[in-house]
Amino acid sequence: MYFQTEDNYLNILLVEDSPTQAEQLRYILEKRNFRVTLAGNGKQALEILREFRPNVVITDVVMPEMDGYELCRTIRSREKLKDIPVILVTTLSDPTDVIRGLEVGANNFITKPYDERYLVSRLQYLITNMELRKDLTAEMGINVYFSGKNYFITAERLQILDLLLSTYENAYHQNCELLNAQKKLQELNEHLEDIVRARTAELLSANAQLKIELQERLRAEEEKTKLQAQLHQAQRMESVGRLAGGVAHDYNNMLSVILGYAQMALDKVEPDSTLSEDLREILSAAERSTRITRQLLTFARKQTIVPQVLDLNETVQGMINMLKRLIGEDITLNWRPGPQLQPVKIDPSQMDQLLANLCVNARDAIVGVGMIDIETSMATIRPEDCADNAELVVGDYVVISVGDTGCGMEKDVQEKIFEPFFTTKAVGHGTGLGLSTVYGIVHQHNGFINVVSAPGRGTTFKIFLPTQHSEITTKEGTGNGVTQRGQGQTVLIVEDDEAILKLTGQMLRNLGYSVLSANSPGKALSIARENLQSIDLLLTDVIMPEMNGRDLAELLAAIHPEIKCLFMSGYSSNIIDGQGMLGKGLHLIAKPFTAKKLAAKVHELLDSKAAPPAATNN
Ligand SMILES: Nc1ncnc2c1ncn2[C@@H]1O[C@H](COP(=O)(O)OP(=O)(O)OP(=O)(O)O)[C@@H](O)[C@H]1O
Ligand SMILES: [Mg+2]
Repeated sequence: MYFQTEDNYLNILLVEDSPTQAEQLRYILEKRNFRVTLAGNGKQALEILREFRPNVVITDVVMPEMDGYELCRTIRSREKLKDIPVILVTTLSDPTDVIRGLEVGANNFITKPYDERYLVSRLQYLITNMELRKDLTAEMGINVYFSGKNYFITAERLQILDLLLSTYENAYHQNCELLNAQKKLQELNEHLEDIVRARTAELLSANAQLKIELQERLRAEEEKTKLQAQLHQAQRMESVGRLAGGVAHDYNNMLSVILGYAQMALDKVEPDSTLSEDLREILSAAERSTRITRQLLTFARKQTIVPQVLDLNETVQGMINMLKRLIGEDITLNWRPGPQLQPVKIDPSQMDQLLANLCVNARDAIVGVGMIDIETSMATIRPEDCADNAELVVGDYVVISVGDTGCGMEKDVQEKIFEPFFTTKAVGHGTGLGLSTVYGIVHQHNGFINVVSAPGRGTTFKIFLPTQHSEITTKEGTGNGVTQRGQGQTVLIVEDDEAILKLTGQMLRNLGYSVLSANSPGKALSIARENLQSIDLLLTDVIMPEMNGRDLAELLAAIHPEIKCLFMSGYSSNIIDGQGMLGKGLHLIAKPFTAKKLAAKVHELLDSKAAPPAATNN
């Protein structure tokens, strides 16, 4: 809206000591087409009013020299000026402002800071009212006592009404502003609540995350401790194994000599003589000792093995009768073959040993009557299963489980059961080698063992053997039990242990072979060169200084392609294979061996036309 008089503009005298406030107000007013004249205080305003008559005076209250009240009073007191409307610019924070305004005869108020629309409507209202009341004049005075002071108000009724209305309007306006502010505050509050809610949710989730991380860390710590303990145990078993393996190897050679000579001596004496009986005692003690060294070698994984691809269900089935005899009549043996078992690759004789050892232990753990359950099944080890057990390897396994209703074991016993010579049995009842042997066998075949046991609640051993995806090996024919004799064929024996060399030579000569002996590979090569056409078989040790048996065999085969080769060893090594497994087409006789076994083996190689069967270590 634009305000105009006859000469088109409404004139306003603006009295304001602050230049910025003055400029701000002038800008608002001129935008609405008012014409604005500025004065810096009351005195200046009165100067201007001498020559210039504005339509309205808008004056600040607090000013130097002459304030707004004084200016208003002076305007009212001068005949020429008294009908010019005066608007006081005030904060209206004090009710006295209104009373004083009335006293000095102000027409209206406006408040700082300026609200443009409000200011303009106030001007419009004031000017319109002034127009309407041009002719109404009712001078009167009234005394007002307010806030401890007397005021004499001469303003006319309508002026008072204006002031009251403007006060009301002002209050209304402020109330609106207050409501607005309140609304904004409420919105802000709600927003704040949203923010608080969001932040609380964030904190809760961070807290939960922290909890998870903490648990994760604790789990990792536990896992680490567990893995360290497993590693420690594995290292201990490894060093015990090395010790046991080394001792057993030396004993094996000595036992071979004792067995061999005792056997030969026995062949020379009358069967009924006391000497024959003594020799048989020596033989049987030596054989028992051989069993112990075998078990130690098995534990140390130094036993030479000939694994075959087997169906475990078939293998176990074949053993059930023998196992039943082993455990006696008071104990029930339940055999539950699992379905769809995949083949495994294991030395069958070791499988026999493993099951027999587990069943005997189960039998010994049962007092009176009880039950032994043998089961087979398939299992898959996934990566997550390996997390807390360093021993596990991902893959498919055949599991053979032997459970009993026996006495069970305390934790401290369980920790030691695989150690050689650990036994809880009375002297003479257990050597403590049963489970060491099982341990060696399983590990040599890349498997692992799981034991679940508690005192009074029985024990279950689970043996995991990796599955094998090749054809099941058909059974080999076994010898007929008759000692096979030679027909003068020549055997070159190479062995760095002089006692064994001598003994083996003696055995072969007794069997009807012609023998050449060499205590080193070098010597063997020179003998071979001299006797090129007449050597039928090389019988050689595997581990020797200078050169290993396999390399020697290759060199000899280059000189004499027809030569057959039989390795003798009580001890597997890298030369055979890291796992003690014999390569295809290689033949081996395990030390210590009897003359009869040697005879069968040599005969098998020299007299069979077809490819001879693989060696076994029995
Ligand atoms: N099924 C089982 N129930 C309870 N304890 C067992 C079981 N199997 C083994 N043990 C404990 O483990 C120990 C070691 O067993 P291991 O087979 O190695 O030796 P052994 O049976 O004492 O002697 P050996 O087998 O050489 O005759 C046993 O003495 C026994 O305390
Ligand atoms: Mg045992």
